[in-house]
Amino acid sequence: MAQKFDVVVIGAGPAGYVAAIRAAQLGFSTACIDEWKNGKGEYALGGTCLNVGCIPSKALLESSENYERVLQKFSAHGISVAGASMDVEKMQARKDRIVSQLVNGVAYLFKKNKVTWLKGHGSFAGGAGPYAIEVRGEGAAHTVEAAQVIIATGSVARHLAEVPVDNEIVCDNVGALAFRSVPERLGVIGAGVIGLELGSVWRRLGSKVTLLEALPNFLGACDETVSKEAWRIFTKGQGLDIRLDVKIGKVTRSENGVRVEFQDSGGGQALDCDRLVVSVGRVPNTRGLGADAVGVKIDERGFIDVDAHCRTNLPGVYAIGDVVRGPMLAHKGMDEGVMVAEHIASQAGHVDLEVIPWIIYTAPEIAWVGKTEQQLRDEGVDYRAGQAPFSANGRAMGQDETSGFVKVLADAKTDRVLGVHIICAHASELIAEAVMAMEFRASSEDVARICHAHPSLSEVVHEASLAVDKRAIHL
Ligand code: FAD
Ligand code: NAI
Repeated sequence: MAQKFDVVVIGAGPAGYVAAIRAAQLGFSTACIDEWKNGKGEYALGGTCLNVGCIPSKALLESSENYERVLQKFSAHGISVAGASMDVEKMQARKDRIVSQLVNGVAYLFKKNKVTWLKGHGSFAGGAGPYAIEVRGEGAAHTVEAAQVIIATGSVARHLAEVPVDNEIVCDNVGALAFRSVPERLGVIGAGVIGLELGSVWRRLGSKVTLLEALPNFLGACDETVSKEAWRIFTKGQGLDIRLDVKIGKVTRSENGVRVEFQDSGGGQALDCDRLVVSVGRVPNTRGLGADAVGVKIDERGFIDVDAHCRTNLPGVYAIGDVVRGPMLAHKGMDEGVMVAEHIASQAGHVDLEVIPWIIYTAPEIAWVGKTEQQLRDEGVDYRAGQAPFSANGRAMGQDETSGFVKVLADAKTDRVLGVHIICAHASELIAEAVMAMEFRASSEDVARICHAHPSLSEVVHEASLAVDKRAIHL
């Protein structure tokens, strides 16, 4: 007899595990199925985010930034460090510890909230509410049943047909987070979020990094003032070699490296590197889900088709996170998980995709929420902009982090905040105020009239808000 649950979640990444915990908190008997296995062959919760995404990448960012601080910044403070060196194995071991601590943390939360963790691959096996879901993992395959199913199967790295990934020499995010030594020459295909974050990690540790980007514009999703500033800092300031408008040609493996032939404005070129990272986006994952067995609709781009509340075409079947439309970000998936669980409990819930913060964890960090200036222009919106730099901020000076600025965009008539764009150290923390302001439909004057602590980086958000009305004090 199939084991019965009120709610079954397929996938335990940030979208799925949060949905499962919230469903259990709301009193539903809940199971969460996940097939992820870590490098030791053990089942591991947390999906891409905890195992090979957000968390390990940020652990490495911190180590590499610390190393660069020691080499380049400490002496100005009067601190001399002789013979600084980087032990990559130790850095990776620290990263692995953080990952397993968080993965075990999710297992603890499942136990605490009485979520049943089913280890293995889940696929629809039929039914029309209740649905039958087959679990194939350790031991014999078995079937569970639930009237409510939440699909949270995430995404996988997109690969290029002409560039086979082995995760040794040619890597996607999985291999690029696990290098055991610093490659002398690192090539990266795709100067997007992963390319810039991981490219920066290995550059700080000593690699010569070349990024090959297909588009003619750098960071086209960012506000254009931010992309321009980022370009200047990353290329001239930090030495990332970024080639735009590139067409990748033949990729040839040699014994200990790889040669990438490509075309750009300079004609035919070749890049020889010791390791190559392919970071050209991610694709939704519905592999082996058995969507056909029950008729879950998948759109032409491979995403599960959902409405604003993550309902699929089938009653009682929802889909959340990277496997559905919207930004492929962990916090977006988590919020959808909570929303869906609360809808199943007949509560209200809503995720506003227009107010999801984006962060690129380079140094300085880039963070934004809402519309860019070019989007407002294209949409014919009458807006006012206020911008303030970190160069005159006392806290930024004390921290040696004076590059970057905050830009606030507000509706010219109503003054409602429409977008906030930040490039600076700790932009990931500062953006929270902007998200809050936008969720509460604040005006730039509202933000300008809030008391901001001194000295703090948040004073620059304050100044930029004042600058919208041309009444900044410190500019
Ligand atoms: P996933 O995390 O992909 O999890 C899906 C889970 O479902 C997996 O565990 C998988 O094993 C399981 N699964 C799939 N199919 C089945 C099946 N049929 N049966 C059983 N289990 C199944 N986002 C941010 O917001 N901030 C960041 O800083 C950030 N950094 C990133 C860095 C990198 C290098 C990468 C690659 C991504 C990063 N992301 C970041 C994106 C973030 O990781 C994803 O948006 C997030 O993990 C998506 O969550 P999810 O739950 O939808 O899917
Ligand atoms: P991305 O979409 O950010 O960047 C991919 C880049 O590759 C784009 O600039 C694209 O134009 C380029 N590209 C595509 N095809 C190409 C080709 N054939 N040749 C050369 N360039 C090509 O995707 P990325 O970096 O792989 O990351 C995937 C997703 O993971 C992100 O979009 C984001 O959703 C998530 N992520 C989020 C992070 C964060 O929140 N800080 C960090 C890392 C990933």
